[in-house]
Amino acid sequence: MKRVLSGIQPTAESFHLGNYLGAVRQWVELQENHDAFYCVVDLHALTVETEPALLRKRTLVAAAQLIALGLDPNKCTLFIQSHVPEHNQLGWVFECLAGFGEASRMTQFKDKSQKSGADRTVVGLFTYPILQAADIMLYQANLVPVGEDQRQHIELTRDLGQRFNSRFGNTFVIPEAYILKSAAKINDLQDPTAKMSKSAASNAGVIDILDSSDVNVKKIKSAVTDAGKEVVFDEKNKPGISNLLTIHSALSGKTIKELENEFAGKGYGDFKGAVAEVVTSYFAPVRQKTQELLADEKALLDLLAVGSEKARAVAGQTLANTYNALGLVPPRR
Ligand code: TRP
Repeated sequence: MKRVLSGIQPTAESFHLGNYLGAVRQWVELQENHDAFYCVVDLHALTVETEPALLRKRTLVAAAQLIALGLDPNKCTLFIQSHVPEHNQLGWVFECLAGFGEASRMTQFKDKSQKSGADRTVVGLFTYPILQAADIMLYQANLVPVGEDQRQHIELTRDLGQRFNSRFGNTFVIPEAYILKSAAKINDLQDPTAKMSKSAASNAGVIDILDSSDVNVKKIKSAVTDAGKEVVFDEKNKPGISNLLTIHSALSGKTIKELENEFAGKGYGDFKGAVAEVVTSYFAPVRQKTQELLADEKALLDLLAVGSEKARAVAGQTLANTYNALGLVPPRR
């Protein structure tokens, strides 16, 4: 079985529809026939200033949501990154392998640091992709399911792995980015030419899956639509309607063609009502399950402890091999 690893940051109170359809849904599928490791990357979340109580809450919500959305702790290894200290340990090794110029070329770092300015950019944001490389390499992952925006980080991971292997002997599996072409690209409801993102200027175009049905119905009904009145898929001239068609299709399983036929001759209003219905009925049970999981924190932490134990068994072995290859003297046993 091929090994898969991915991570998601606990940076919001809820995942949004784009997170689910663009990533988490694929994770759920992959656990069926892969040896899948998934982590909530809380250490990565420290690169932006966060309130401790909020980080704690978001980390638990993220884990609970992943389970509620279908990750099964019996089928995959689900854990919290900071529970496995080997991530930091291998991270340092990779920091000593990565070039300063190489890390400086990461476009995500350039964008983010430019936005906040050098004095407000922490060094951890600069080394973020190197910690990400450690996340992946510790588990000898073959495939890394991520969005297109992470391609460069996976390239860096591969480069670091190859560099290590050629200098110190074969130690790491070189992973591949697994970027699903069929994964639905979900855009903002208010600005349907931009990707749905938690960092959007306004939350009005973002469907948070833990929000109440009322809130989400309202957002869908106020989604920006396009000139004309036909419900047809045309990304260029009708980005708003096309986005709503994509959302409906992704959740209902109907094809775009089927939906176009179903709504032929009906107006945008009817169609938006149908989209709202599909979205809210899909996520109502997820919200409920998440709340149940959060209500028993001890049981949730027990589930996560099983995950981190499984993770540490693999990570510890990789780190020991790495230290050995580097010539670090092991402590007396
Ligand atoms: N940087 C990734 C993102 O923002 C999150 C991440 C951290 C990750 N570590 C990872 C993704 C390891 C895949 C593998 O989406």
